[in-house]
Amino acid sequence: NVSLEHLLVLKSFSFIAFLIFTSVVSLICFSPGEIVVNEVNFVRKCINAEGSQDDLWGKLICTNFKVSFIPQDAPLKQLSHLLFGEHDIPLTCLEQVVTVNDTKGKKKVLGSNKKLKFNPTELILYSKDLRIIRFCFDQAGPESAKKVCLAIAHYSHPADLQLLFGFEYQGRRYHECKGERVKGATPRGGIHTPIFDRPSDWDREIKRTGASEWRVCAINEGYAISSSLPEYAVVPVSLADQDLKNYSVFFLDNRIPLWCWNHPNGSALVRMANICDPLQQRKIEQKIFTAITKSHPQRCDVIKLDLDKFLPNIQDIQAAFVKIRQICVIDAFEESEERWLSSIENSRWIEHVRAFLKFSADVIFHLDGNNISVVLQEEEDRDLNCVVSSLAQLMLDPHYRSIIGFQSLVQKEWVMAGHRFLDRCNHLNKSDKEESPLFMLFLDCVWQMMNQYPAAFEFTEAYLTVLSDSMWIPLFSTFLFNSSKQRAQYFMDFAKNKAIPQGEDHVVYFPPVWNWSQQFSNKDLTLFNNPMYVGKGAACVQNGEVKTFKRTKMVDGVP
Ligand SMILES: *[C@@H]1O[C@H](CO)[C@@H](O)[C@H](O)[C@H]1NC(C)=O
Ligand SMILES: *[C@@H]1O[C@H](CO)[C@@H](O)[C@H](O)[C@H]1NC(C)=O
Ligand SMILES: *[C@@H]1O[C@H](CO)[C@@H](O)[C@H](O)[C@H]1NC(C)=O
Ligand SMILES: *[C@@H]1O[C@H](CO)[C@@H](O)[C@H](O)[C@H]1NC(C)=O
Ligand SMILES: *[C@@H]1O[C@H](CO)[C@@H](O)[C@H](O)[C@H]1NC(C)=O
Ligand SMILES: *[C@@H]1O[C@H](CO)[C@@H](O)[C@H](O)[C@H]1NC(C)=O
Ligand SMILES: *[C@@H]1O[C@H](CO)[C@@H](O)[C@H](O)[C@H]1NC(C)=O
Repeated sequence: NVSLEHLLVLKSFSFIAFLIFTSVVSLICFSPGEIVVNEVNFVRKCINAEGSQDDLWGKLICTNFKVSFIPQDAPLKQLSHLLFGEHDIPLTCLEQVVTVNDTKGKKKVLGSNKKLKFNPTELILYSKDLRIIRFCFDQAGPESAKKVCLAIAHYSHPADLQLLFGFEYQGRRYHECKGERVKGATPRGGIHTPIFDRPSDWDREIKRTGASEWRVCAINEGYAISSSLPEYAVVPVSLADQDLKNYSVFFLDNRIPLWCWNHPNGSALVRMANICDPLQQRKIEQKIFTAITKSHPQRCDVIKLDLDKFLPNIQDIQAAFVKIRQICVIDAFEESEERWLSSIENSRWIEHVRAFLKFSADVIFHLDGNNISVVLQEEEDRDLNCVVSSLAQLMLDPHYRSIIGFQSLVQKEWVMAGHRFLDRCNHLNKSDKEESPLFMLFLDCVWQMMNQYPAAFEFTEAYLTVLSDSMWIPLFSTFLFNSSKQRAQYFMDFAKNKAIPQGEDHVVYFPPVWNWSQQFSNKDLTLFNNPMYVGKGAACVQNGEVKTFKRTKMVDGVP
């Protein structure tokens, strides 16, 4: 059995473990467009492994959006989700659906088209937000129980992206809420977070960081050049559009290098993909680096860092995540503490978190310590670069440690830079080989920094938890697509099918996750705010070396 100390050790080493022992939420609710597919009564939800005295009796329901369990006597919880009850789980959040008939010792993992030859006595759901949920059917009708299990497996991952519940939900919500919306009353429909899908957002960022030798470039408008870059990007003023067009052909998917951020001393942070043609590599790189140097007020040098060479790749990260999930969720209660801690170490997850933090601190050393501009290079510029560029900015710029700033950072370095959320999250359960929790790794790194500098961040652990859970709720545009081009294509069809007027802002008809009122009441949203936050006065939160304020807490395993 597990002691309280054991749980505390567990909670303190990683964001992942923290998530497992923290649960939000309450009550039953159905969303617009939600339909009950199948249900079964007299189901027992098993709460403890040891005995049945805490078990809950109720009804298990499969809808086209979620698996819902409605207990007969529902106790109320503090933080209540507006879309989910305490016992609900979105279908896209299901990792594995397992049925068991214990009388025969049978067990089967259900896929979307699988048959089930026995009547299940038990259903076990493994979820992507690291829960295991068990239901027993000893008092339920065997045929109904079987039907619900098959329905859950069938509906858990739709064959096609536009069949995800979000498209149904947002279409209805848009028309139902039409009357309430006041056009232009608030910036971009009330969401203060810049989306970076228009030149003005980039212009503001250039001004804010004093990057006077950089400009917004529109050569990818209408996705004319690259299918994974945003329509607008920032480039050195000395490069003309025609130069950029000429250089773009040498990059994978024509991804021209992207400006991320400027240091107040003048150095710039830039990200870029590999150059495909080895014969041209030196020449093209030279031209680009010369342009970056010209954009530096003191004409300081440029250093290129090859992330693929020094950091774990996406398969390593996925493998570590699978192991740590196995250890935390499934084996947590079966091993002695020493053995358990050593298996955590062996999963290498913490080691990877440490590697990314350390690498980002090296980036800072060049930008901040030497006034040197840094170019982050990665094969596709869509995975590791997202983690390192956002961590470096978070360490150096207090603006990104505010809630709005942090959200704009995720928008800029992940969503707009073309991180393949659809593939990496594996929402359709079709891309096993592409699945990798890069964003989760990033959140764990942020969590480590928050533990070292508890006063430097405006947001709380509760905020990070809700953000990471939102990845598995298919209602927000933020985590659904591989690129902004893909998003634009799906939204074009969506708007046509749902009779949404041309020219309507997609932020209004299919909102990103940043309108938190979609999920929580204003009262609950106060839990996002860190009461210890000292404001933007806190300067550098570089991992390790302390600059403006004292380190108050040491996190296990992190230097
Ligand atoms: C997703 O796919 C994997 C491997 O193809 C499979 O093991 C798993 O059961 C599937 N999950 C669901 C919920 O269907
Ligand atoms: C378990 O499986 C056996 C064989 O399929 C079946 O006869 C029995 O009814 C099942 N148990 C339940 C509770 O459905
Ligand atoms: C944010 O979401 C809430 C709840 O769905 C909605 O009432 C509100 O209009 C939304 N705000 C904007 C600006 O879309
Ligand atoms: C771009 O390439 C075209 C054809 O390859 C060439 O004619 C032109 O001079 C180049 N322009 C610049 C600005 O390098
Ligand atoms: C770095 O930039 C600052 C601000 O422009 C300048 O004062 C300082 O001398 C520079 N340091 C080096 C080492 O070039
Ligand atoms: C960069 O600027 C900061 C103040 O913003 C200064 O403390 C630091 O020494 C500068 N870096 C270099 C290399 O001069
Ligand atoms: C995601 O995008 C990549 C290319 O950017 C593409 O190869 C892949 O098929 C896309 N995945 C889905 C599920 O559309």
